[in-house]
Amino acid sequence: MVVTTSALFFAGLFTSAYACGDAVAHSRRASMPSSITLPTRPLEWGDINIIHTTDSHGWLLGHQKASSPEPNYSGDFGDFASFVAHMKEMAEKRNADLLLVDSGDLHDGTGLIDGFPPGGIDAHDANEFFTQLPYDVLAIGNHELYKYVNALDMHQNFAPKFPGRYLTSNVNITVADKQGNPVNIPLGSRYAKFKTRKGRKVTALGVLFDFTGFDKNTTVQKVADMVKEQWFAEAIEDEPDFFLLAGHMPVAQDKWPLVFNAIRQVHPSTPILILGGHSHIRDCIQLDGRSMSLESGRYMETIAAKLDHGNNSSDNITFTRRYLDPNRVTYEYHTGRKGSSFDTRKGKSITSGLKALAKAFNLDFLFGTAPRDFTLNRVPYPSESSLLSLFIEDAVPTALAINNTRSSIPNLIITNSGSQRFDIYAGPFTKNDQLTTSPFADAFFYIPEITLSLAKQVLLNLNHAGATSRRSSETLEAREAHLYGLGYVDKRYREWLESMDKRNGAERREAANQTLGYVTQDVRFSL
Ligand SMILES: *[C@@H]1O[C@H](CO)[C@@H](O)[C@H](O)[C@H]1NC(C)=O
Ligand SMILES: *[C@@H]1O[C@H](CO)[C@@H](O)[C@H](O)[C@H]1NC(C)=O
Ligand SMILES: *[C@@H]1O[C@H](CO)[C@@H](O)[C@H](O)[C@H]1NC(C)=O
Ligand SMILES: *[C@@H]1O[C@H](CO)[C@@H](O)[C@H](O)[C@H]1NC(C)=O
Ligand SMILES: *[C@@H]1O[C@H](CO)[C@@H](O)[C@H](O)[C@H]1NC(C)=O
Ligand SMILES: *[C@@H]1O[C@H](CO)[C@@H](O)[C@H](O)[C@H]1NC(C)=O
Ligand SMILES: *[C@@H]1O[C@H](CO)[C@@H](O)[C@H](O)[C@H]1NC(C)=O
Ligand SMILES: *[C@@H]1O[C@H](CO)[C@@H](O)[C@H](O)[C@H]1NC(C)=O
Ligand SMILES: [Zn+2]
Ligand SMILES: [Zn+2]
Repeated sequence: MVVTTSALFFAGLFTSAYACGDAVAHSRRASMPSSITLPTRPLEWGDINIIHTTDSHGWLLGHQKASSPEPNYSGDFGDFASFVAHMKEMAEKRNADLLLVDSGDLHDGTGLIDGFPPGGIDAHDANEFFTQLPYDVLAIGNHELYKYVNALDMHQNFAPKFPGRYLTSNVNITVADKQGNPVNIPLGSRYAKFKTRKGRKVTALGVLFDFTGFDKNTTVQKVADMVKEQWFAEAIEDEPDFFLLAGHMPVAQDKWPLVFNAIRQVHPSTPILILGGHSHIRDCIQLDGRSMSLESGRYMETIAAKLDHGNNSSDNITFTRRYLDPNRVTYEYHTGRKGSSFDTRKGKSITSGLKALAKAFNLDFLFGTAPRDFTLNRVPYPSESSLLSLFIEDAVPTALAINNTRSSIPNLIITNSGSQRFDIYAGPFTKNDQLTTSPFADAFFYIPEITLSLAKQVLLNLNHAGATSRRSSETLEAREAHLYGLGYVDKRYREWLESMDKRNGAERREAANQTLGYVTQDVRFSL
């Protein structure tokens, strides 16, 4: 079993976060692990407000388990639709703008997406629900591009539902034209220029990180090359009221500064709002005093991030942002509505449509019952509640012994923790849980008739690659860069968990009543 850094993810009584730009700490009181308490304070509305989603990966029915912290993320996409509708109404009353933005990765992650019957297309049905929300701008993610058939579905069926607003600035697809000749064209639109409800001019882009794992007949252009394109220069030439850079690219440690600098060279003070994604974390940084970059987590665990700004062109802009746990308590609190006065007709129809889809895909099919929670990052490996222990000690030996003529021959199995994607929680274990926990259809590769002494060295070498010499540490770095290009973000995600734990974990773990919680810290720097 290859286990890389295992991060412990515990948190305690207080969650504090420094808001980008206003440095106001806020705290939330702990509650019983599986109950949801009210948010501590209302949102601060500004002139321009944005609700942001990213990396939803099919979690449209919300997190449905009772174990903590899952209830915090229990709102479904119908609840979200009702929330958005009320927020839009509130914006109108306040004479403010409210935009809805998504940063990609709609594919791969739950049964609603991957549980389709033979002949179906991954995410096609679930994406229909996305199209029912009033998204202003959406950007493509790498998970839309691993398979040509999925990319083609986004091009032919999804993008047209958001005319001109499904942005794929550096992503092309090859399709047959009317005469049957192959043409290489942008998968969605390269950029969008539009006016908000209140008449503000917006120039928007949708940028994908330097992804290299795209399928044949799709292309991802490097960000560094994209900013040198003639169309790019033309798109950013006129000054809008603000630039809206949506994109499937982490707000830190990636290529946003290339896009940012290219715009700043032409427009030294025009507000730039960056809405990133891909590394599945909550993050917020400022590249300068008149811009803000924000990333809203993963799996519908963080739906809304909100930015306000003032408008004096000589000053730093004041931004505020809030990460919201998507659940009905949060939604009802911020919209001042309850129960049936909260649900809109559309919201209810989305919820029932999602449930019908789950039924059609037979996602409730029961494999068994999990006696307790098995988690990926919260407990050490090996241990009783480690998902990795369950996988390698129980599941794999059982699965590989069935109908296997070699099952009587001693064997050594090596696997990677990245093969598993999500925790298993106590209670029914269904087809949906199977696809959520272990969505990858990887084959086992085996080498027959090998001596045990040799086999035993493999794991050791895999785990310690790079530790011994400079040369191999360079090799390791190159390998990591290669994996990052292919879309692996596990390492970054775990580093983030670890940094949260280091910063705020120790005292919390000592507290008798531990609760889990995201504990974010923003950085602010100029280029
Ligand atoms: C790419 O698309 C073209 C045009 O549709 C087609 O002729 C070609 O076979 C495709 N290539 C692959 C590898 O699928
Ligand atoms: C994307 O398509 C456009 C339009 O056909 C073409 O001009 C451009 O070169 C393509 N870009 C890439 C990176 O393939
Ligand atoms: C504006 O923001 C920049 C970068 O965040 C900071 O260095 C600078 O001190 C700020 N200026 C004022 C007047 O607050
Ligand atoms: C922005 O400018 C408008 C018009 O000058 C003004 O009404 C509004 O209050 C300003 N907003 C902020 C946050 O300063
Ligand atoms: C903008 O900021 C400058 C410098 O702080 C100040 O002199 C000016 O009055 C402000 N303008 C508005 C419209 O608030
Ligand atoms: C194992 O093989 C038997 C007989 O061919 C078959 O009935 C059974 O479904 C197989 N089990 C699995 C898990 O593939
Ligand atoms: C948490 O634990 C402390 C110390 O044991 C106790 O005083 C407090 O009441 C507990 N809070 C909750 C919400 O259980
Ligand atoms: C879940 O919400 C409760 C308050 O309702 C909070 O104490 C806890 O930290 C949250 N958990 C996570 C993982 O955000
Ligand atoms: Zn993702
Ligand atoms: Zn991604």
